[in-house]
Amino acid sequence: MKVLVTGGAGFIGSNLIRLLLREAPELEITNLDKLTYAGNLENLADVAGLPRYRFIRADVADPRAVERVFKKGFDAVLHLAAETHVDRSLEDAAPFLRTNVLGTHVLLEAARRHGVGRFVHISTDEVYGSPSAGEFFDESAPLKPSSPYAASKAAADLLVLSYVHTFHLPALILRCTNNFGPYQFPEKLLPLAIANAMENRPLPVYGDGMQERDWIFVEDYCRAIHRALERGRTGEIYNVSAGTPRANLDVLRALLALLGKPESLIKFVEDRPGHDRRYALDSGKFRKELGWTPQNDFEQALAATVEWNRANAEWLERCRSGAYRNYYRRHYTQRRKTLERWQKS
Ligand code: NAD
Ligand code: TYD
Repeated sequence: MKVLVTGGAGFIGSNLIRLLLREAPELEITNLDKLTYAGNLENLADVAGLPRYRFIRADVADPRAVERVFKKGFDAVLHLAAETHVDRSLEDAAPFLRTNVLGTHVLLEAARRHGVGRFVHISTDEVYGSPSAGEFFDESAPLKPSSPYAASKAAADLLVLSYVHTFHLPALILRCTNNFGPYQFPEKLLPLAIANAMENRPLPVYGDGMQERDWIFVEDYCRAIHRALERGRTGEIYNVSAGTPRANLDVLRALLALLGKPESLIKFVEDRPGHDRRYALDSGKFRKELGWTPQNDFEQALAATVEWNRANAEWLERCRSGAYRNYYRRHYTQRRKTLERWQKS
């Protein structure tokens, strides 16, 4: 089975590709990624040479480039490519609309024209906005996105559903909570806090730090995506969550304890505008219909994530300094001609 993964050089995408190459030998994987600041091919250095894996640099919002790639013929698309950082969407929403909305449209069109048999759209819990205390959103909850990032993801979800309804595209949507784990870019809360703490620098906490996120270990989510690829039903939306909600401040205190650093590193800073207080999903439908449960305990996975970042301090440093961009230049430019020939053939 030939699978196109978009955004495979990012955090979840690289973990997903590694897991699929390891656990699904029947899959041949093409990774289409633009390599924005968040895309890092170093994340896949250990699998780059495998015959069942191919990387192609392209922009999902570029119809001609996408068309060239789709001509190779794919049975399924796992669409993860996106601009993902809420804070950046507050600075400039334009790249979010281009990639998350227009890019999704370009892919949907290509998938429709080429008769792709399955399209798994990776969305987020943020499309629902913030539930009040004790409330859990199921898939029928109204869309009430707070940030431009969340609004762009909600718009993409609606486009996907319109393609299912109007063109019978065999697509489905996953909406998941906050992931954590190896290879997460150090602008998101956990890797940023780990990197800062390791250097005895302050950990910025927005507002009072009592905002709640339901954290899921990335490996558990990647297994959920694999399950959706195999068994998800067309036209359905599935919430995915591990059911381990934690206040930001509690997560940071746990991280500092794991690193043996003092809580005095915590620094309260001005709150993020429009900051959602809480995300909480009812993921009963996905668990029941697709027989999925998370395998990893939150505290153990957090310790493993801290350990991974500690063991990969150089990777973290290259992300922070921008030096990771040299990896592509060193390892891929000499292969560009081969890739271009493959695209044209
Ligand atoms: P990420 O920011 O780490 O990676 C995004 C990847 O997409 C990068 O490799 C980047 O180069 C690529 N990309 C961006 N624009 C592109 C374009 N125009 N064309 C091709 N590639 C492009 O993101 P992530 O955290 O791995 O998230 C992956 C998906 O999961 C996203 O759709 C995100 O909305 C969703 N999601 C993430 C989380 C989370 O906690 N990380 C939670 C719920 C949903
Ligand atoms: P983040 O990792 O940006 O994910 P999201 O905004 O998509 O949930 O942030 C997770 C939580 O941590 C969120 O409530 C914002 C907060 N946060 C901080 O308090 N300080 C920080 O430096 C960052 C990046 C996030």
